[in-house]
Formats: sequence, structure tokens, C-alpha cells
Amino acid sequence: MERLQKVIASSGVASRRKAEEMIQAGRVKVDGQVVTKLGTLVGSKNTIEVDGVRLEREEHVYYLLNKPRGIITSTTDDKHRKTVVDLIDTDKRIYPVGRLDYDTTGALILTNDGEFTNYLMHPSSEITKTYVAKVKGILKGKEIHMLESGVYIDGKMTEPAKVKLRKVDEKNNTCMVEITIHEGRNHQIKNMIASLGMEVLKLKRERIAFLDVKGLQSGEYRLLSPKEIAKFYGMNSKHKKNH
Ligand code: URA
Repeated sequence: MERLQKVIASSGVASRRKAEEMIQAGRVKVDGQVVTKLGTLVGSKNTIEVDGVRLEREEHVYYLLNKPRGIITSTTDDKHRKTVVDLIDTDKRIYPVGRLDYDTTGALILTNDGEFTNYLMHPSSEITKTYVAKVKGILKGKEIHMLESGVYIDGKMTEPAKVKLRKVDEKNNTCMVEITIHEGRNHQIKNMIASLGMEVLKLKRERIAFLDVKGLQSGEYRLLSPKEIAKFYGMNSKHKKNH
């Protein structure tokens, strides 16, 4: 049995707080009866309606995909291009958690669990993402320090990052740099590098928190285990109490 507001939030209809408001406002029915008490426990056999619309409840699934280059991170595409969802053989209504650019490769989580998605995406969760970028030009100590302490993108400073120079190719004037961030602004890594007047030639997300794509070929995926999901929630002490 799960708490009503949590089930509504998991279905993706609303955040947990919004779901609580909906319950208190008398907009939610369980088995045909209006329920206004927060924390009412419901099981998989109970029917839940929000504003008269029945909530469809699917078993939650979680995938880790090693995203190939040239695939869009979306559920549908108006130009009929292949999406990351097309790579996964499932009948569940999954969607990607966050975005990787068309030409970015690496770790991407897909799920049908709205609450888990909200948790991973919320800035307060501070889930780290580690990227490896091939950069045109060679980063110097000063530039690495700038990336670490924060650079301006669209007038807003980035949060502190961890930066490690992995490889320098003097001959071709390129370098490989590892950058770990917990924000998820649009094109963040490319824009951070661009703020130094340099360009990202290739970008891979190697890790999301403790999860990496080792053992997964490009385009391959695997299911995440309940233990791995619990580990994500355990990383945030505020959230731990609710699970
Ligand atoms: N930063 C980028 O610039 N692109 C991505 O795909 C992810 C992070």
C-alpha cells in the first residue's frame, strides 16, 4: 500500500505537493468516494480518479541507456526521427529523465515514474553528472579553475564543478576533460567551454551519480535494480525520510 498523494505524484499528474492540494480540495476519488484525508493508503486494486479522470497506473520501470550519437532525447519527434524511447523494447510509457543533445552519447535514464523523475531533476537533490568532453584547444590551469569555480552562461553563474584534465594532444591541439556538475542547464557543458572561447568536439556523459555505462555498448540498455533506485533516494537525507 502507498500513500494516495505519492501514487498521484508517481503517475506524473502533479507534484506531490500539488497532489496533496488536490486531495484536500476534494478533487480526488478512491473507488468512487471523495477522499480528503492526506496519507490515505491505496493499493494496486483501488481505482483513483482526479477531477473525474481515472488514473492509469503502470508498474514502474527504470532503464539505463548508453545513448548513441544522432538520436534525439524525446518521446516523439515531429520530423519522425528516431528517439531514445524507440531504442527500448517496452510497452510501458517511458520517457527520458533530462536531456542529452542529439550528438551527445552516454548515460541516460528512462522511466515511467514521475516522482523519481522529479526527484532526480530537482536541484536540491544535487545528483552529479560526469561528462567527458573532447575540446578543440588545450585547457590551461586558469581555465580549469574558471570552470571549477563558475562561469557565466546567459548572465547566470554556474555552480562549482569538478574538473580534471585527462589527456592532452599537442599535435592535434585537442584535450580530453572530465567535468562533474549537478546542475542540468541546457547545453551546459558546451556552453561552459564556449564561455572560455573554446569548442566541444565530442561529448559523452560517463556517469549519473554512481551509475556508469560500463559494459553497455552504444545503443544498449539495462534495467535498474530496486537497490539502485533506493540508492538514489538514499543520497539525499531529506528525501530518505519519505521512502
Ligand atoms: N551539456 C551539453 O552541452 N550537452 C549535453 O548533451 C549535456 C550536457
